[in-house]
Amino acid sequence: MKDIQKAARIIQEGGLVAFPTETVYGLGADALNPMAVAKIFEVKNRPQFDPLIVHVADLRQAEILVTSFPKEALKLAELFWPGPLTLVLPKSSQVPDLVTSALPTVALRVPDHPLAQELIRESGRPIAAPSANLFGQVSPTNADHVRQTFGNKVEMILDGGPCRVGVESTVVAWMTSGPVMLRPGGISLEEIESVIGKVDLHIGTEDKPLAPGLLTQHYSPKTPISFFDQRTRFQSGLKIGFLAFRQNNTSVPIQAIEVLSTQGDLRVAAANLFAALRRLDNEGLDLILCEAVPEEGLGRAINDRLRKACGPR
Ligand code: TXA
Ligand code: MG
Repeated sequence: MKDIQKAARIIQEGGLVAFPTETVYGLGADALNPMAVAKIFEVKNRPQFDPLIVHVADLRQAEILVTSFPKEALKLAELFWPGPLTLVLPKSSQVPDLVTSALPTVALRVPDHPLAQELIRESGRPIAAPSANLFGQVSPTNADHVRQTFGNKVEMILDGGPCRVGVESTVVAWMTSGPVMLRPGGISLEEIESVIGKVDLHIGTEDKPLAPGLLTQHYSPKTPISFFDQRTRFQSGLKIGFLAFRQNNTSVPIQAIEVLSTQGDLRVAAANLFAALRRLDNEGLDLILCEAVPEEGLGRAINDRLRKACGPR
């Protein structure tokens, strides 16, 4: 049996399969099977108030899971699917409450990776999948990252190589006031606004996050991490690593460095971000320093992940 057929069978039988998407690796289960979905929360250690994204093969399969599709959402879907865009829409009764944390909406996306596409089509099921990392930790962008965390806890890990985009999908929801971007991601705000005009940005508050991915602390390495500030004085002997955008801008002695893109290309930087963070996290450092990138295009998603990695613990 081919790997993809084996994986599809596991999904049909209510098991978990980790699979590649163009953004990050996902931890997938049959979205219409609450028992299977419950396993995702358990294995990930994810609180049940944090709803999952449902992955579908195409717009037609998405339409079955919602009660309405706002015109602007349809435009975005037609332009950016398959791709790193998640649309939050009113859910149909088919979608179990566990998937959406009992919200009246469901988050949908059509992933642009051949293995993800094949898994959905071969299993014939919409696939609920969060990023394949433990809750609050750094997202996985290659199969080794997933193996290190879930090696024997999932039935199968499909290896599709490193993820092309490297940061999660952009999440857009329709509130009474119109479209709101809940999470910056692989499709930039500029791209979205060029199609549907002004989009509100959701400013997360800690006690009432609209999307729990907006919790102020997330995406965190085990090593303490903070933004570099010229004025900070460090005690001598500290082992410090630097997560740089283009080059070493620090004035302090560092033991390790990861450069996201020497050319200053935000797409390259996004693709390198999580793997670089994980490598620094494995260096036995006392502290990781990082720096913000330009707040434009994919830079918004990168800065969002860095701010959350640095958030209060
Ligand atoms: O790129 C991605 O989106 C990856 C790949 C695997 O597709 N998935 C991903 O899933 O990042 P996860 O679970 O790590 O993040 C899903 C985000 C969370 O912030 C969650 O709160 C939000 O989507 N979300 C899901 N359903 C929602 C809903 N009904 N309303 C508001 N936010 C929702
Ligand atoms: Mg995640």
